[in-house]
Amino acid sequence: MIASNQLQALRAAAAAAMQHAYAPYSQFRVGAALLCLDGTIVTGCNVENSSYPAGGCAERGALAAAIVAGHRDFTNVVVVTEAEDPTPPCGICRQALVEFSPAIVVTSYAASGADAQWTLAELLPHPFTPQSLHHL
Ligand code: THU
Repeated sequence: MIASNQLQALRAAAAAAMQHAYAPYSQFRVGAALLCLDGTIVTGCNVENSSYPAGGCAERGALAAAIVAGHRDFTNVVVVTEAEDPTPPCGICRQALVEFSPAIVVTSYAASGADAQWTLAELLPHPFTPQSLHHL
């Protein structure tokens, strides 16, 4: 299990990332912080677009930044929003995360400080994975 000081470092990093969110359409700012296997923290924020589908989530922003930095294994991801209640990653982000780290633990913090924690397996119990392609 993750140490509480490490979890708080992830939370702070995600909250800082949220400050950079570009969310003029939804007004729903999100920050995400991934903990890589070697202890590195990589962050992302949501980046919306006037062509709505061109926007992207914080979690996938963090994932892309981590991959380009050479990280492919993650133990934890922390999501920070300004919502009243902690929110889980969307379905597309669950799918994006399972590609690299099926055992990742997701912790979400709301504006109130309320938190919730899930395993990705709880959030995405029957994932499509790289192994799913092996019947070809
Ligand atoms: N969003 C995220 O960045 N992460 C989530 O976990 C949920 C949703 C973004 C997408 C969009 O910019 C805004 O929040 C509202 O859906």
